[in-house]
Amino acid sequence: VIDIRKLYAEVDHFTLDPGFTSTGSCESQITFIDGDEGILLHRGYPIEQLAEKSSYLELCYLLLNGELPTKDEYEAFGKDVRQHTLLHTQQDRFFDGFRRDSHPMAMLTGAVGAMAAFYPGAMGNEDPEERRRDSIRLVAKMPTIAARCMKYNLGQKFVDPQNRLSYSENFLNMCFSVSAEDYEVNPVLARAMDRFFMLHADHEQNASTSTVRLVASSGAHPFAAIAAGVASLWGPSHGGANEAALRQLREIGDISNVPDFVKKVKDKSSGVRLMGFGHRVYKNYDPRAKVMQKTAHEVLDALDLRDHPLLKVAMELERIALQDEYFVAKKLYPNVDFYSGIILEAMGFPTKMFTVLFAVARTVGWVAQMNEMLEDPSQKIGRPRQIYTGAAMRDYTAMTSR
Ligand code: ACO
Repeated sequence: VIDIRKLYAEVDHFTLDPGFTSTGSCESQITFIDGDEGILLHRGYPIEQLAEKSSYLELCYLLLNGELPTKDEYEAFGKDVRQHTLLHTQQDRFFDGFRRDSHPMAMLTGAVGAMAAFYPGAMGNEDPEERRRDSIRLVAKMPTIAARCMKYNLGQKFVDPQNRLSYSENFLNMCFSVSAEDYEVNPVLARAMDRFFMLHADHEQNASTSTVRLVASSGAHPFAAIAAGVASLWGPSHGGANEAALRQLREIGDISNVPDFVKKVKDKSSGVRLMGFGHRVYKNYDPRAKVMQKTAHEVLDALDLRDHPLLKVAMELERIALQDEYFVAKKLYPNVDFYSGIILEAMGFPTKMFTVLFAVARTVGWVAQMNEMLEDPSQKIGRPRQIYTGAAMRDYTAMTSR
C-alpha cells in the first residue's frame, strides 16, 4: 500500500497557513494597513483625513481611479452614478419571491447575484469602458437594493432614488421616507451615514474581499463575484459583528453589569467573546473606531439622546477592557463595529440591516480590488493547495464484506 502522505511530502512543498495569517495573496496599490501602529491609508491618504474632509463619493472615485478627482471629474463621476441608481422594474419584482421576514443579507445576496441576469454582457468583460460601467452600476445600485431589502421587511412601498440628493441623503431617503418627499434628511445623520460608508469602504484582503478576488479570478460574472463578497461578509466574525455587538450591549443592559460580563469573556469556557473588540490585523486601536466613537456622540447629540444607555454601556466596557490584563496582553482594542451599531440604531435602522449597510459601503472596495486583479497581466486563477491528512491509498471493498 502506498502511503499517500509520504509520497506527497516528497513531491510537493508549500506552506500550510490556516486562516492565511502570514500569507500575502496579491500585490495591491489600494489600501495600506499598519496594524501595530493603527494606520489605515487609502491610496496613501489617512482614513482620518478622508473621514473629516472628503465624502464617500469622492472616496469611491479615489479607490477606483487611484487619484483624487478634479472638480470636473468629481461632477462627471457623480452624474454617472446618479444615472445608474434605478433598478430594472423586473428586478423590483424579484423581491416578491422572498418571505417578508427574510434576513436582508439573504435578500441582498440573492438580489446582487441576480444582477448578473440583468447585465449578462458583463461576463468575461475585458473592455475597460464596460468594466468602468459595471463598477458604476454596482456603486449606484447597491444603496437602492439595500433600501428595498429594508422596505420589503417593513412591508412598505419601495421609494425610488432622488437625484437631487447626495449619495448618503438619497440612501436615507429611500430607507426612511414613505412617499419620497415626506422625509427631511437631517444633515448630521447624512454626514454620519457618509462617514460610516467611508470607514467601511475598503480594508485590503479581508475575508469578503479575498472571496471576491478568488471568485472573479476564474472569470466569473462580476456581479456574481460581488454577491459572493456579500455572502462572506454576513458572518459574525466579519461584517455581522456590528449586529452582534449591539445585541451584546443590549444583553448587558446596564453599566452595573459590565464587570460581570467582562469576567465571563475572560473565562474561555464561557465561549463568549466581546463583539466589536479585536482584529486580525490591528493590534492597536482601530483608527476607524476612533472616528466612529466621535460620530456616535455627534449623532446622539443631534437626536437628543445624549444619555443613551447603550452608549454608556459601550464606554464603560471600553474603559474596563482597556485596563484589563486579558485584553492588554492579547492586544484587543475596539474595532470599527464597536460603536457603529449604536449610531445605526439611533438613526432608526433595524439591527438586521447593519451588515447590509456595511455591504453597501464595501462594494466599492470589492470592485476596486476585483478590477485591480483583472487588470494585472500576471493574474492567475486563485488555487490554494492543502496538506492531505486522510486515509492512505486502499482497495475498494465490496459492500458484502465491509
Ligand atoms: N473577545 C475575547 N477574546 C478575544 C476576542 C474578543 N473579541 N478576540 C480575540 N480574542 C482572544 C482569543 O480567544 C484568542 O485567545 P487565545 O490566544 O488565548 O486562544 C486570542 O484573542 C486571539 O484570537 P484569534 O481568534 O486567534 O484572533 P483572530 O485574529 O483570528 O481573530 C477576530 C480576529 C475574528 C476579529 C476576533 O478578534 C473576534 O472574534 N472578534 C470579535 C468579532 C468582531 O468584532 N469582528 C469584527 C472584526 S472587524 C471587521 O470585520 C470589520
